Amino acid sequence: MIKGKLKLSIALLSVCTLSYGQNNIKLTDTQTDITINKHIYGHFAEHLGRCIYDGFYVGEANDSIAHTAGVRNDVVDALKKLQIPNLRWPGGCFADTYHWKDGIGSKEGRPSIVNSWWGGVTEDNSFGTHDFLNMCELLETEPYLAGNVGSGEVQELADWVQYVNFAGKSPMSDLRRENGREEPWNVKFWGVGNEAWGCGGNMTAEYYSDIYRKYATFMADWDNSGGLYRIASGANSADYHWTETLMKNIPNHLMKGVALHHYAVINWNKKGSSTKFSDEEYFKTMKSAWFMNELVEKHSAIMDKYDPQAKVDLVVDEWGGWYEVEPETNPGFLYQQNTMRDAMIAGMTLNIFNNHAKRVKMANLAQTINVLQAVILTNGKDMIVTPTYHVMEMYKVHQDAQLIPIELHSDTYKYGEEEIPAISASASKDKQGRVHISVVNIDPKAKKKVSLDLGGIKAKHLTGRILTTNNLREHNTFEQPNTVLPKEYKDAKLKDNQLEIDIPAHSVIVLELI
Ligand code: AHR
Repeated sequence: MIKGKLKLSIALLSVCTLSYGQNNIKLTDTQTDITINKHIYGHFAEHLGRCIYDGFYVGEANDSIAHTAGVRNDVVDALKKLQIPNLRWPGGCFADTYHWKDGIGSKEGRPSIVNSWWGGVTEDNSFGTHDFLNMCELLETEPYLAGNVGSGEVQELADWVQYVNFAGKSPMSDLRRENGREEPWNVKFWGVGNEAWGCGGNMTAEYYSDIYRKYATFMADWDNSGGLYRIASGANSADYHWTETLMKNIPNHLMKGVALHHYAVINWNKKGSSTKFSDEEYFKTMKSAWFMNELVEKHSAIMDKYDPQAKVDLVVDEWGGWYEVEPETNPGFLYQQNTMRDAMIAGMTLNIFNNHAKRVKMANLAQTINVLQAVILTNGKDMIVTPTYHVMEMYKVHQDAQLIPIELHSDTYKYGEEEIPAISASASKDKQGRVHISVVNIDPKAKKKVSLDLGGIKAKHLTGRILTTNNLREHNTFEQPNTVLPKEYKDAKLKDNQLEIDIPAHSVIVLELI
């Protein structure tokens, strides 16, 4: 075991101080004014593989799967249990090829297009703006629309904003009414392009920040509430120059959020199987997921320099594990299974976001159904939820709760000469005064004892839930959908303000103290 102290936090921003050595968690200040924004628990639905078609949407004419206006009822029920706060659409890379006017009006009259990024399949545009925004109402979630900057025009994006948000009389709001929707949807979250450094146009940061200013200017705030939340296409992982350039060149009034994309991937050329992975591949995935901590701290430090009052938010609008597609599936569809490894990525990453809630205000797991680190998988009439779903469900208690900063001392999880912390954690207090602590042990073999110092919190009652399995590679299948399920957790002892917990290998625990 490594004993040396290693401080991983950056003074002002970080509220989780971490050092190696033993497993201690101390809850520090219970009176912070930092809220864990519920939008950290956002999701992402792209026109990619079977996420929209066959995932969310089975079509109005379908008579074998229960649906509402073509949207699967089982999916709506499952996502409502997660209280998903926002849903990003229509991409991803697809967003910069998407012309929204192709997806309105009578479905028979809509043109077909070819989805050039994802499998070269023909897209009939039967799921368009109305379908998506009405679905968000069903899901009781806020839409996050990603606009086309790469192959679109300023006027096209300006028109889209007017179409969905303007209550008065105008060419676009009249068109909306002709298409059956009287009231505007008042969409707040708008992405100005996606991955402008890559599939969104292979731009430089300097060029993108210039055209961002133009696009953002003409995306009018139609309800005059000042509420349009424009999000700049952000850095690819550790591209700090990108964030620096955007922060330097774009005035705050035009940009509420700066995005960041980072996937937990072993090697982009050899991503490995989603279920049959080696111990080494597991370690590399965890290392890549843990890198999110450094990314958030370093991008935040750059943002601090230009925006010390934290008016601009860091929006991690794509994150998750990325592996090879399942055998015999379309390589362009990015369909992968989801094991306890993914539960570890989810638990650890959400702890990182919670602990950096001062700057990270929004995030989107990629992607909701049948693509990458999905929470839901469908197969014809059948639908299952994944281990990642269960982590999201267990962690929903942190949504809009007050952050309780922690100090954390963790054992290392070592593989060969490399090591990362085995334990991650975060804590919050909700509006009813209940304290929730989420703890993850990513070590695939060793169970851990963790001492929790509750500081000033006087708890009378303790309950907990755990997500774990005997085998790290376990996952839910259509034949056995309940292999990975949360259970009641009983291995915690509360005495005064000290809590002792035993956390098995590869486990996620959420404790509640009243
Ligand atoms: O989520 C899959 C793809 O990953 C998205 O379309 C793109 O933005 C990213 O590269």
